[in-house]
Amino acid sequence: MSRSAHPAGPRHADVLTEGHYSAPAADLNALDEKVWSRTVTRDADGALTVGGIGVARLAEEFGTPAYFLDESDFRARCRAWADAFGPDADVFYAGKAFLSRAVVRWLKEEGLNLDVCSGGELTTALDAGMPAERIAFHGNNKTVAEIERAVEAGVGRIVLDSFQEIVRVAHTAQRRGVRQRVQIRVTVGVEAHTHEFIATAHEDQKFGIALADGQAAEAVRRALSLDGLELIGIHSHIGSQIFDMAGFEVSARRVVQLLAEIRDEHGVELPEIDLGGGLGIAYTSDDDPREPHEIAKALSDIVTRECESAKLRTPRISVEPGRAIVGPTAFTLYEVGTIKPLEGLRTYVSVDGGMSDNIRTALYDAEYSVALVSRTSEAEPMLVRVVGKHCESGDIVVKDAFLPADLGPGDLIAVPATGAYCRSMASNYNHALRPPVVAVREGEARVIVRRETEEDLLRLDVG
Ligand code: LLP
Repeated sequence: MSRSAHPAGPRHADVLTEGHYSAPAADLNALDEKVWSRTVTRDADGALTVGGIGVARLAEEFGTPAYFLDESDFRARCRAWADAFGPDADVFYAGKAFLSRAVVRWLKEEGLNLDVCSGGELTTALDAGMPAERIAFHGNNKTVAEIERAVEAGVGRIVLDSFQEIVRVAHTAQRRGVRQRVQIRVTVGVEAHTHEFIATAHEDQKFGIALADGQAAEAVRRALSLDGLELIGIHSHIGSQIFDMAGFEVSARRVVQLLAEIRDEHGVELPEIDLGGGLGIAYTSDDDPREPHEIAKALSDIVTRECESAKLRTPRISVEPGRAIVGPTAFTLYEVGTIKPLEGLRTYVSVDGGMSDNIRTALYDAEYSVALVSRTSEAEPMLVRVVGKHCESGDIVVKDAFLPADLGPGDLIAVPATGAYCRSMASNYNHALRPPVVAVREGEARVIVRRETEEDLLRLDVG
């Protein structure tokens, strides 16, 4: 349907020419498989089901808002990444995207490793039985206490992010009489095509040690000179929600160049390189993410080629996808509360959650899709903005989308692709209670992170 033929007619004409959004899908009841998790479908009555369970039952049993995570899809994505990279590479799931003890167990069972970036994530990983040697510890300002716990636990690698940290980790390891395996995180000077706040390889930012001015080479010198450290490789993470492989290619090339310089200066060939995470997913039908096997092939081809030309042994590659694994596996289910049509503008649809369960729209101007899921509708599309219940006008969940014009209070709507960085960045703003995460698999649903209660809030507030 063309925009000019939009049935909302002249009422929405001004907004329609602004072009902030795609034209409405021809069929608002259709579920684009790019943005919904794999077991999502509609039942005979038109209600959305996941893992064979309908949303009405899920809402009744677990309440709204809630995140529903498709466990078989999560596991399948883990296997796809592991298979794509094969036995000569390592996949570390980035726990910051979403971590819970159940997730750790799934990762362990599916053969993935885990990247953690705080003491809290480390505790969750160890508590759920992830072997320490399969854990990588990240962060630009790890506390001494965190470093001590990581070294004591025997994590497989600590990714060093500053000159101070090189010394701190070396001292901690030496005091304990161990050699800690480490990588050095470098900034390769790539401008990733993504939001400024989630781009991390240009030089003017807080992560890593710059390659360009010789700082990274100096960091390598220091790390190699300290007894407490076993330098196993170089790490680079260029940013997040990236579709274009060009940035990864430049990053891989520059990291391999550094490996060659290290070989020339120190006579050492470091055995590993880590190219980080950051692969984009589909939030709307306009996004076209790559499959893990394409990504694996592109990365391993470039590393192999660069190593051949530098006459280096090809190092073991590792990657750290977070969003690309968990992002597409969950949706957030909301109940519609109020509806305000604004003449000549758009219709505001308020749901029972908002920026406290999804801050990404407010923070990054992120785009999401939304669908009416408790039923189908043959009504005309109406241009909506889905907003939350918080005291903030920037409390937007989906900026511009189309929902059927007969939408009413009590209808359930769902926002797909909220598995990554939604629950993990959720807040208690306005003393909102953070929603539960419910894993759904083959006709069974179970809470893996429970809903917060008002008692939880009062327990933290010591009066
Ligand atoms: N490795 C490192 C060192 C990272 O810093 C990150 C993400 C990842 C891996 C995983 O990136 P992913 O594959 O999930 O894109 N809150 C932002 C994203 C921040 C990402 C921070 N680091 C968002 O909601 O888009």
